[in-house]
Amino acid sequence: MRTPIIAGNWKMNKLNKEADALVKELVPLVKDAECEVVLCVPFTDIVTVRKAIRGTNIRLGAQNVHWAESGAFTGEISAAMLKELKVEYVIIGHSERRQYFNETNETVNKRIQAALNYKLKPIVCIGETLEERESGQTEQVLYTQIIECLRGFKSWDFDRMVLAYEPVWAIGTGKTATSEQANEAIAFIRDTIRKRFSLKIAYKLRIQYGGSMNGGNVKELMAMEEIDGGLIGGASLSPAKFADVVNYK
Ligand code: PGA
Repeated sequence: MRTPIIAGNWKMNKLNKEADALVKELVPLVKDAECEVVLCVPFTDIVTVRKAIRGTNIRLGAQNVHWAESGAFTGEISAAMLKELKVEYVIIGHSERRQYFNETNETVNKRIQAALNYKLKPIVCIGETLEERESGQTEQVLYTQIIECLRGFKSWDFDRMVLAYEPVWAIGTGKTATSEQANEAIAFIRDTIRKRFSLKIAYKLRIQYGGSMNGGNVKELMAMEEIDGGLIGGASLSPAKFADVVNYK
């Protein structure tokens, strides 16, 4: 069976002192978690958080990575730089990157490749906007995202990959997808992976749900057969709230 994975996405929040305090409070609260626990933190918090999670069950993640080895890409971070800081996971293609920073399926594809080259574990985000859902295009949008973002990857590449289904209309809005909507979309994603790649890959691949997931709705979402975890924004900024999600069992 697939091990559930709950990842916090701090986005552009937490100064070093705040990050340190949050993690210290979080560590004892999640020490018995039955799922994999990850914190995807701002680049500037990586060293602080790495120290604070040493010897615990919390894993370290970043929120973006560039595709080039190095070079004139002002403001970007390479996979080698993340690897050097012992980062394990990296979010790629978050809808906020797509919306505000012109991220496309093509650049997502390149970023995943760079992450894999350095043995980082990409958490690849896909999901439809409200407009797309309301005009009945959800499956078409997800299909295109899967095909274009995952183009060229081999079976072994999927061993290190996690997908996150994040309907854009549910992110930071307090408007969660119902557990049925989330399950249905994730089932579609898994089925597309099966057809495009293989049954084995589809069966093993962990697919998270993301979008206003919290202590109040996590149980119902995680009870769904297809949902293998969560990508948590808002609720990951408080140790107690994030622990409520992580300890959903
Ligand atoms: P949210 O964010 O939990 O605040 O909706 C989720 C995400 O953006 O990954």
